[in-house]
Amino acid sequence: MQSSLVLKSKLNGGISIFSVVGQLAAEYKAINLWQGAPSFTPDPHLVESAFQAVREGFNQYGPMPGVLPLREALARKTAKLYGAQYDPNTEITVTAGGLEAVYAAITALVHAGDEVLYFDPAFECYEPTIRLQGATPVPIRIPLGTMKIDWDQVQAAITPRTRMIIVNTPHNPLGGVLDQNDIDRLIAITRGTNIVILSDEVYEHMVYDGKTHLSMARYPELAERSVIVFSLGKTFHVTGWRVGYCVAPAEIMKEIRMVHQYLVYAAPAPFQMALAASVEDENNYLHLADFYQKKRDLLVDSLSGSALKVKPCPSGFFLLADFRAVSDKSDRDFVLDLLRRKRVGTIPLSHFYSDGADTGMIRLSFCQHDDVLREGGRLLSERDL
Ligand SMILES: Cc1ncc(COP(=O)(O)O)c(C=O)c1O
Repeated sequence: MQSSLVLKSKLNGGISIFSVVGQLAAEYKAINLWQGAPSFTPDPHLVESAFQAVREGFNQYGPMPGVLPLREALARKTAKLYGAQYDPNTEITVTAGGLEAVYAAITALVHAGDEVLYFDPAFECYEPTIRLQGATPVPIRIPLGTMKIDWDQVQAAITPRTRMIIVNTPHNPLGGVLDQNDIDRLIAITRGTNIVILSDEVYEHMVYDGKTHLSMARYPELAERSVIVFSLGKTFHVTGWRVGYCVAPAEIMKEIRMVHQYLVYAAPAPFQMALAASVEDENNYLHLADFYQKKRDLLVDSLSGSALKVKPCPSGFFLLADFRAVSDKSDRDFVLDLLRRKRVGTIPLSHFYSDGADTGMIRLSFCQHDDVLREGGRLLSERDL
């Protein structure tokens, strides 16, 4: 069947490593350093607003592009943060999580015979979605040593068939961000082409050490060819509510909405209503950089005595750690071993590579409570690791 072909690089015997780790973690009551969902309770006002929206009757299909108060609030947010004007009527669509926006953008804009460049390792949905379209994924490896994109390699990979470049800043799983040089190269490489940029920016508010998130929305030359994806689930600790959104110029958004209307029609109405008020107040999300930076620092400190070698992490939810000093196992076996022996759940980095490359690294999430981070760090610092 085609589905197994499409997904074969991501599945092992038909089961994703996330399911394997999840199942074993539950069995062993393991410390959760594997999941990319925040462990925190959302703002009580936001929760109350959701109840209120249900009580007030927002229980049927909402408008296909999203409820207007939320789209208007998102337009103001994007203008204030990134200086970009998006029309809530034609250029902003609320989706069922950032994930649906990524899927809708790729399936609306990429077709059989097209090529799509993306950066490897990558969030796992890009490659199978490209393949499902009959298009060709063109992964460009980001070297772990420099963590920098080689733009000459990108330029060389561009052909007349290149339809899209997917960028992800802040990056999952590497934790890197695009800098001004990256932006300048991306502008130069796409100038005068029909290439669309899909910019996955779901971790826009988790950028640390005083760095600034360089959204495509800041650069008119990029914004005019970009679909930019955001996640209200990540931003408001409500990933289960499945609310995200994308912004794009009207003619591109028209195409995306055609897919969105047949995929989910509309994102959950009461949650959209609830989120509209929270989006209006930047105090509800601008503290996130500080909040998560402290979590990152706590996990790094807790691992200071560990034989694991931690990579610098300027953004996102995830820390990468090199385990080659303690084991020559495959990263997958090392993860399973850590679960059994140390009762700590992590994810092997190979899961995110198009060819399953094993670089001797594991991914640790720090969107967890402080006691979990301390205990995880302590267990991973034991001598018999
Ligand atoms: C890079 C990246 N893009 C998109 C998503 C999907 O976000 P959402 O939960 O809003 O669907 C995730 C979630 O983990 C992610 O890591």
